[in-house]
This record gives sequence, C-alpha cells and structure tokens, in this order.
Amino acid sequence: MGSEGSSPDRQAQVAVALQGKKVILCVSGGIAAYKAVYLARSLTLLGGDVRVVMTEAAQRFVGAQTFAGVTGNPVVTELFTDAPFAPHVELARGADVAVVAPATANALAKMTAGLADDAFSATLLSVRCPVVVAPAMHAEMWDHPATGANLAELERRGVMLVGPDAGSLMSGDEGVGRMAEPDEIVAVLASVLEQARDLEGRRVVVTAGGTQEPIDPVRFIGNRSSGLMGFTIAREAARRGGKVTLIAGPHNLAPPGGVDVVSVGTADEMREAVLQAAADADVVIKAAAVADFKPVQHSDRKLKKAAGPPDISLVPTPDILAELGSTPSLRKPGSLLVGFAAETEQDPRRLSELAVEKLRSKGADLIVANEVGSNDSGFGSRTNRAVIASSEGVADIGLVTKDALAAALVDTIAERLR
Ligand code: C5P
Repeated sequence: MGSEGSSPDRQAQVAVALQGKKVILCVSGGIAAYKAVYLARSLTLLGGDVRVVMTEAAQRFVGAQTFAGVTGNPVVTELFTDAPFAPHVELARGADVAVVAPATANALAKMTAGLADDAFSATLLSVRCPVVVAPAMHAEMWDHPATGANLAELERRGVMLVGPDAGSLMSGDEGVGRMAEPDEIVAVLASVLEQARDLEGRRVVVTAGGTQEPIDPVRFIGNRSSGLMGFTIAREAARRGGKVTLIAGPHNLAPPGGVDVVSVGTADEMREAVLQAAADADVVIKAAAVADFKPVQHSDRKLKKAAGPPDISLVPTPDILAELGSTPSLRKPGSLLVGFAAETEQDPRRLSELAVEKLRSKGADLIVANEVGSNDSGFGSRTNRAVIASSEGVADIGLVTKDALAAALVDTIAERLR
C-alpha cells in the first residue's frame, strides 16, 4: 500500500487526505505505465475515487481493463463516444487532483502546447485542480532543452513535479528518467490535497466584475471588467476549503460550485452587500472594478434622443475598500483586507510602486496590482501580469494565468492567516 516507507501516523494522515477524493490518473505511453497500476491500486486502497484516462500508446503497455479492475471505475480511452456528454469534461469536473504518471516527453509537450487531440490531453486541458506530473523517459529525452523548457513552463503554471529518479531505464540503459516510485507519488498527492484545504473553516468574501451606474433605465456608466479574476479567486478559495461569498456585478460567467453568489448592480449595492458580509469574514478580497463615479441622479424614464445630449454630472461612488481599511469596526478582528489595483503600467517596478502606494492609501493588508490595457493582461484576458504588495515587500508574479494568480494570492492569504 502507498507510503509504506513512512510512519504509521503519516500513513493515517495520507489516508485521511485521500479519503473520497476524486483523483484523475492520466497514463501516457511508457514502460513505467506498469507502475501506474500499482499507483492506481494504492490510491484506491487509501480511499481515493480514482479515475483513469489513458493514451493509445499507454494501452500498448497496460490494458485499460487492468486499471478498471484495480480502481472499480470505467477507464476513459476515447475522446469521441456515442454518450450524450464529453467524457473528458465529465472526468475533469469536480476533480480534486490530477496526476500524470508516467508523463512521457510527448505528454509534457502536449500539455505545454495545450493540445487536446485525445481523451488524455483533452482531460488535462479541462481540469482546474492541482496537477502533478511524474516524468518518465530516456535520459537523452529528459536532457533535451525542449523537455526542460516545457517543464519550466508547466511549473510556471503551477504544475508540480515529482521525480524522475536516476537508475535503470528501458533496454538496460542507466540514467535520469525513471518514474518516481508510486509510494513517493502517493505522498506528494496527499500533501497537495492537504495543502489544498488551507482555508478550511475560513469565511472569504470576494467581489468581482464591474458595477453599472445607471443614467436612465437602459443606459449606464460601466467598465470592461469581465469578472473572471474574482470568479477564479472565489473558485480557488472554495476549493481550498473556504466558505466563500462572491459579490458580483453583472457578468456572463458560470458561478463556481460551492460558492454563495450575491448579485449586485451598482457600487452602492456592492457596498451594502460587502459591509454585511465583511462583519464576520476572515478575508475580504476586493477584485471588483467598482465604478469610481456615478451620475448625481438618474432618470426613471429613458432619455429621449430628440431632447439632445444630456448633461450628466458625476459624483464619486463610495470607496468600499478604503472604508473597510479605515474603519476596523466594520471587520472581524485579525481579518485580512485585499485590494486590487488595475494599472495601465507595463514596467513591473512602476507597478510595484503603485501597489505600495495603494496599500497605504486604502489601508489594505495586500494589494494585487495588475496591468490592464494590453491584450494579455487585465480586463477580458485569461492572463494577468501582476505583483502582490504587502508590508513585507512586493512579490513579482509575472505574466501568469488568472488561475495561477488566484493560487498565488490564496497561498499568500493562507500563509498570513496561519
Ligand atoms: O481606487 P482604485 O479604483 O484604483 O482601487 C481599486 C481597488 O479599490 C479595488 O480593490 C476595488 O475593488 C476597490 N474599490 C472600491 N470601491 C470603489 C472603487 C474601488 O472598493 N468605489
């Protein structure tokens, strides 16, 4: 059984971590696929709900039937079936952790490129849980700069690496490229699952999206925020055990599972919802792009074009973040306040300076400053170029997916709440 080399105490903890967890085991085509059977068996015996997806090449080494027998679950090998659902999406949904074992050089390259031409790679493109890879290949392939670059990119995206070990390889060769032992992989998966619950019992409030300040019943002042960053943070916080309230402006996104969503329209409505939720929250994360100004008054009836361009006088909206930052009685003692700063600033040094300034002006514990205005960062983009500032300094996160930025932010928050 898994983790045989560890103490009985640790073995019990490993079993607790795996109990009832949906583990996706992605098997690609290398001789080490036979060890993946042992891995599947260990994870199943430890209480995991193990779902296997295999490449065609993997099936040349081990039969799908073997994995089905060991795990008690059907094995996915085909992207196209006559089922009324997509097997890879079904497999990926609700997964707690995915492990690629063995991960061949080809599998790593496909993951890096985001290919989805078989059930295996499509599953890996669909999962939103932590991903662990256990590479296995010949030493020459492991040493190739292409493999090194692919791994560096995958690690940058948050993929975790276990192994490979040095030792005997296929055809009697020696070198680095042996897949890590199944017990070691089980231990890594358990610690990923344990770490993944680091917000257990914490109340988290996240705001997302832009607000809309009405001019009349059909027109408003708004901004380009899609809400994706806030939704991604809410999902990550919920995945890690947080009890999450997501206060969202108008959006077109599917609410993350297990999150309470409060829908608001204007900055005033958002303020009311935030102040109510903040009172017993351990952390308030203000990712929303709240409108800074609203019309002094709005018309109850649609303004007529024939009446000519209206004079719209603007007044500031309430600054919710600054209010929370300057009024400790509004928040739970010891709670954290996190703000965002959207800046049209590409230079990371300047971005850092602005983040530090905002930390002070808003009275926040953390400020995530991200660049907006370019194609690959900010509103509407799937990636963000960001820094995270706190009283301890500024961490440059670089250009990463919003998933990776959410994970880095939640890491920082969990660390500080500890
Ligand atoms: O002041 P600025 O818009 O640059 O600050 C951005 C941060 O302040 C974000 O965290 C945003 O959610 C928050 N904010 C707010 N209320 C406002 C404007 C911004 O809470 N009226």
